[in-house]
Amino acid sequence: RIEEKIDSLMAKMTLEEKVGQMNQYNGFWNVTGPIPEDGDASNKYEHLKNGWVGSMLNVTGADEVRKVQKIVVEESRLGIPLIIGFDVIHGYKTQSPIPLAESASWDMEAIKASAAMAADEAAASGINWTFAPMVDISRDPRWGRVMEGAGEDPYLGSQIAKARITGFQGEDLSAVNTIAATAKHFAGYGFSEAGRDYNTVDVGTSTLYNIIFPPFMAAIEADVKTFMNSFNVLNGIPATGNAYLQRDILKGEWGYQGFVVSDWGSMAEMIAHGYSKDGKAAAESAANAGSDMDMESYLYVKHLKNLVDEGKVSLDKIEDAVRRILRVKYELGLFDDPYKYCNEEREKSVIGSDKNMEIALDMAEKSIVLLKNENQLLPLKKEGMKIAVIGPLADDKNSPLGGWRLAAEDNSAVSVIEGLKKYKGNKVYHEKGVELIKGTEAFVFELDINTTDRTGISEAVEVAKNKDVVIMVLGEHGFQSGEGRSRASLDLPGLQQELLEAVYAVNKNIVLVLMNGRPLTINWADENIPTIVEAWQLGSKSGDAIAKVLYGDYNPSGKLPMTFPRNVGQVPLYYNYLSTGRPKYPGDDLVFWTHYTDEVNTPLYEFGYGLSYTEFKYDNLKLSANSLNKTGELSVRIDLTNTGKYEGKEVVQLYIQDLFASRARPVKELKNFKMITLKPGETKEVSFTINSKSLEFYTANNTWESEIGDFKVFIGGSSNTILESKFTLKD
Ligand code: IFM
Repeated sequence: RIEEKIDSLMAKMTLEEKVGQMNQYNGFWNVTGPIPEDGDASNKYEHLKNGWVGSMLNVTGADEVRKVQKIVVEESRLGIPLIIGFDVIHGYKTQSPIPLAESASWDMEAIKASAAMAADEAAASGINWTFAPMVDISRDPRWGRVMEGAGEDPYLGSQIAKARITGFQGEDLSAVNTIAATAKHFAGYGFSEAGRDYNTVDVGTSTLYNIIFPPFMAAIEADVKTFMNSFNVLNGIPATGNAYLQRDILKGEWGYQGFVVSDWGSMAEMIAHGYSKDGKAAAESAANAGSDMDMESYLYVKHLKNLVDEGKVSLDKIEDAVRRILRVKYELGLFDDPYKYCNEEREKSVIGSDKNMEIALDMAEKSIVLLKNENQLLPLKKEGMKIAVIGPLADDKNSPLGGWRLAAEDNSAVSVIEGLKKYKGNKVYHEKGVELIKGTEAFVFELDINTTDRTGISEAVEVAKNKDVVIMVLGEHGFQSGEGRSRASLDLPGLQQELLEAVYAVNKNIVLVLMNGRPLTINWADENIPTIVEAWQLGSKSGDAIAKVLYGDYNPSGKLPMTFPRNVGQVPLYYNYLSTGRPKYPGDDLVFWTHYTDEVNTPLYEFGYGLSYTEFKYDNLKLSANSLNKTGELSVRIDLTNTGKYEGKEVVQLYIQDLFASRARPVKELKNFKMITLKPGETKEVSFTINSKSLEFYTANNTWESEIGDFKVFIGGSSNTILESKFTLKD
């Protein structure tokens, strides 16, 4: 029925109106205020009335959205409603942890609930489309946008992509509390050279298909309604003008029916890439390549009609794009009621509700990763202790909201100090020590991380003396990661390392709480500090979640979704690497094998790593058979025992290695995982099924298939697995 409705609507549309559907504008004036009289805003206003705009982004609030929708619905000839987009990345007003942190939970239900909560709030505020999830795999923590992704692994990334999309879109896209999702950035954005945002991407077929594509394919499986292309060139061709990516693969091979929006201005950027000679040529390339909607390049609205008249872009291609866009609008129910997302009552009751705060807290607790806990410094005793809390992030209420929290109220997070003070039995003393940044503007400032003011260090040292424990809250400011926030160093920024060492000199009982949007290099801390808690940027309820973990009211269960290197020079460092021809040189003292002369090859903390207050023993790996054929399956099982003192949750991880194949395969690949809760002393059998589908990869035949031969299977609590066995895949 929707297709028939689209047919009859399209039959009435002029070419300009069709092109208009492919045009997206940024919010441009206070819509509920006076009508703009001149300049860009007035042009956009006129274009809305003419039916030359299909979508707006960054217009928020029931009132504002209703007003802008009204212009189109009541004043344009056909009254086709706008689809309203916004970056709802890890919450709308109520912030969940940054996506990288959520990914550390490995908890798909929690991630789904967090996305559903974000959709609920955004949809109450007029929004019906989010530019999320970012499903770019990345192996480079220098890249600021790793905070927005699911880390380095295509399998985990695919599961998380599905969880986020089903969370945002729900079961019924036309419901008032669900919104359309976007799989972005298609493709390769996470592989920008040297981790510098927007930089060149050059990857081969195997990486493209086996590492970068799987989460996008998973997104389609989850029925994601839109894709966004990316700023980068991929193997010399800008993604926005890339017909191979968008036409051949996405809409061809994968049969994708949704629409593709460009990234902000990425059509016009093809000129700077040295690919398009001018705006008209860029519009031509983008339209022919399958970019359906122009975000803020103004090129479709300017040139597409002429390009069709001149025969440079076919009407078929325009109509295909428009059909895709209208389909999503119909599915959202916008034609039934263009104002359905504009409801002030819902806006008041849903946004920031206790229920939503509970979801954010639950997600935050699950995202924390315990990296080290020597001498069982944690959990803290609840009474009679004197605790020093030191560091620039300890009382920060802004940083924990992380990057990409556009609708959040500034300084609205619970700080660590606030969270800790809710436990009244201990006495808390606080000193900042050093400043992390100057300035608080999200987008415009360059963070001044070279602050040289050391006066606070001695004050912090004084406070740390004679305390039972020192909690140091260090890391990155929330705006030090995210778009345009690449770093060349992964060390603690500014004077924080100096502060840490100065405090350590007077009190060694330190719990280091890290807040950061990417893996950091913290070798000194790992060698010296007894306890390290990775607390990322955990959103609105950050301080509460951290306090609960430090006091043992939540036993940490997170596992790293991304490798922590020892040295920035090791980057890209990831667990699923290919073996070189010289993994080790036979002969002890020769240099001719793959290594550094000044650093080991191994990471500081590997992918999948994370501790608990309890301990787990892995035992008795058994296979149901030592071979399977292409239509069969086998099961692999272990016994998992909680050998510690606390109830705890463990993410049991299954990896395989395809020993010989038509393309060299990684030394380990995550294939499945299960979250198991055990009481002290309890043992559970954990089993997984392996079939030929789970062994597939993009082979040298350029097809997805499994290849017969020998495999290893590993099970453990991280990618540094404990148990292994072997099996054979037969025809
Ligand atoms: O959605 C984002 C994208 O990820 C980066 N550029 C801007 C877009 C819209 O805000």
